[in-house]
Amino acid sequence: MNIPTPTSNGVEGLGGGLPSGLPDEATLGRLASEFFRRLPGAPEPSLHFAESAQSTSLGTGSEVGKFAAPEPSLIQSGPRGAPLPIAPDPVDPLGSGGAEFGVPEAYAASLPSVTPPQPPSQFAEQAPVSPSAFASTSPYYFLGEASPYTQSGGAPAKPENRVVAQSFGLPGQGELLALLADIGSDRKSADSGGQPQQSGNFYFLDAAKVPDAGPTARPAFDVNAVRRDFPILQERVNGKPLVWFDNAATTQKPQSVIDRLAYFYAHENSNIHRAAHELAARATDAYEAARNKVQRFLGAGSANEIIFVRGATEAINLVAKTWGVANIVEGDEIVVSLLEHHANIVPWQQLAAQVGAKIRVIPVDDTGQLKLDELQKLLNPKTKLVSVTQVSNALGTVTPIKQVIDMAHAAGAKVLVDGAQSVSHLRVNVQALDADFFVFSGHKIFGPTGIGVVYGKAALLEQMPPWQGGGNMIADVTFEKTLFQAAPNKFEAGTGNIADAVGLGAALDYVERIGIENIARYEHDLLVYATRGLSSIPGVRLIGTAADKASVASFVLAGYSTEEVGRALNEEGIAVRSGHHCAQPILRRFGVEATVRPSLAFYNTCEEIDRMLAVVRRLARGKGKIAA
Ligand code: ALA
Repeated sequence: MNIPTPTSNGVEGLGGGLPSGLPDEATLGRLASEFFRRLPGAPEPSLHFAESAQSTSLGTGSEVGKFAAPEPSLIQSGPRGAPLPIAPDPVDPLGSGGAEFGVPEAYAASLPSVTPPQPPSQFAEQAPVSPSAFASTSPYYFLGEASPYTQSGGAPAKPENRVVAQSFGLPGQGELLALLADIGSDRKSADSGGQPQQSGNFYFLDAAKVPDAGPTARPAFDVNAVRRDFPILQERVNGKPLVWFDNAATTQKPQSVIDRLAYFYAHENSNIHRAAHELAARATDAYEAARNKVQRFLGAGSANEIIFVRGATEAINLVAKTWGVANIVEGDEIVVSLLEHHANIVPWQQLAAQVGAKIRVIPVDDTGQLKLDELQKLLNPKTKLVSVTQVSNALGTVTPIKQVIDMAHAAGAKVLVDGAQSVSHLRVNVQALDADFFVFSGHKIFGPTGIGVVYGKAALLEQMPPWQGGGNMIADVTFEKTLFQAAPNKFEAGTGNIADAVGLGAALDYVERIGIENIARYEHDLLVYATRGLSSIPGVRLIGTAADKASVASFVLAGYSTEEVGRALNEEGIAVRSGHHCAQPILRRFGVEATVRPSLAFYNTCEEIDRMLAVVRRLARGKGKIAA
């Protein structure tokens, strides 16, 4: 038996000659260079140091701003400082990236073959493809970009617009609307006393609510190709392929995010904003580049308006304990809505108890939509803050947030928008909304856990006192007095979640490249399909039927507890959340303590929905009673 000789670094075969059948070392090295150069977010030296200059201008403290561009020798040298011969590349003539970042050699053997990108002219007679689709050389599937780097090589696939209603095998838009109108007329509303639901009250009957793919949408959306970017979707649960319908709780991560995290720890890991060494510069650049990505993603005016926190919960607590404590006094009023997650209720209750303020609540109608006329009645000169979700985590309702903001501003109140459930489904622009604060969590938008964002208008952040004290947020400390950094640093005490901020940046890159409008359109169709199926099952009651919804299909099933339904689904490999979803007030408004909540993302399919419907149908027929 031919046993490869272990080398001193423990990597079999590579040091002492390669087993026959594998490419030689030079080929492996070249492939590895290709692979790492094409990782989204992998910093190319020119970008790396350009961003260094940009990021260092953010801080005002003495510890920020030290990182001058390194000597060219640093860019051109290998992991052990040895100069690397870098062959000119037609895509990247500078030859940046790759082995100079320290390619783990064992990786190379499993690299996919890479076919060079084809010029746009190849698609001349097909659907239009944005030239920018060819600017990137990612190995992952992206719309219109997947094909240049197919796993098997070969010609790029023809881009086709699958983000349309007929993508689910329905004959056409007209047929779809007829089908949905049929569901709408058959179904009785539990909330309207058995009267037929009015046409238009179902979100899917309102043509105006169908998301528009929009001018920025990419031309193609092949869900099967997208699914290959998410390794966890290959898992089996109870012997069945995993169906991940718990996206409102957390989303799964594309390989590009997983790789970006690994890359950070393998090549960039350091504390940030401190020290003059190379890795501190790389880590600082990566972290500040992620902040810039969040700024662009939210449409904020400045990266200084973006604060990294642990998640949306910490984000709301930060605002309550800084802006809130400084601006809300006894007798003031804070308006929230009945739709809120507990994270957008409890911090305001705590603040109200601390300062003697009052909480007022915007009610919802029988579909689960905010009653704006009631909001109008609540607003008065004592209202200092309106804090409202953009999408309900329990019902999926998309609230008329722009109107809420305008009404609150007209009354002189500031507005916090909880975007935890919205950013992964619809385009957000904080300046167009005129939101004062906007918060979200990274893990709900295909990024890592433990990272989230507060956006705050610069003028507000400037006036807000810091929250936590410690390193990183100070400009100067004596025992008599401490001077703080400007925002955002003054709100980021201590060593933050550097790697996961970088991972969030990679997640936003991924979402942007698919196109949020494409995602919205595709998810709308999924939701239509799921709603249609659930509505047709006797005993199913949908909770939340607003005209404008994101892809959440909360329901209860007569004769079964939500735990029983959840368990039956889990037995078939289908993950849903069943329970109160940290939103007890809104569920109680509909007379329930819990629901089964399938929540869908753009990597889900109608076939997966069919699998869920089969289980619910079986239970409804009484053939699937679950043993306690
Ligand atoms: N907020 C998360 C949910 O809705 C945990 O499930």
